[in-house]
Amino acid sequence: MKTTNEAPLMRLEQVTKTFPNGTIALRGVDLSIERGKVHGLLGANGAGKSTLIKILSGSISATGGQIFWKNKPVHWTSPKEVKAMGGVSGCRERLAAFRFVAPETGRVVRSGWLLARR
Ligand SMILES: Nc1ncnc2c1ncn2[C@@H]1O[C@H](COP(=O)(O)OP(=O)(O)OP(=O)(O)O)[C@@H](O)[C@H]1O
Ligand SMILES: [Mg+2]
Repeated sequence: MKTTNEAPLMRLEQVTKTFPNGTIALRGVDLSIERGKVHGLLGANGAGKSTLIKILSGSISATGGQIFWKNKPVHWTSPKEVKAMGGVSGCRERLAAFRFVAPETGRVVRSGWLLARR
């Protein structure tokens, strides 16, 4: 992987989301997304993962904080706008099959489904 000193592609500073019903889904999220790196987003059910991805992809807006795209503050309001800038688009979570095979025997030791909701 290429390592550079360039600025992150996207940076979030103190991003918050309070839904109209008063639910606070995100409080003060700081995040840097760097070019050429794979980033994982982990958290318990209801932690705010989907809300964060929806904000990053422009389908909903944050209620506080600031998002920077290539070091410039952005206030995008639609997925189309984000896509046009080259940002996050088409994030979908899926039902995926998995199988773990024991290398010694070649037998399946565990199989099932991983359910990730939108
Ligand atoms: N449209 C909405 N209106 C009100 N509250 C919402 C809305 N969408 C999500 N929430 C609430 O915001 C919080 C974060 O939800 P979110 O769906 O982002 O979590 P998640 O980490 O994706 O959870 P899961 O692992 O179950 O997919 C939860 O308390 C949820 O009930
Ligand atoms: Mg989710």
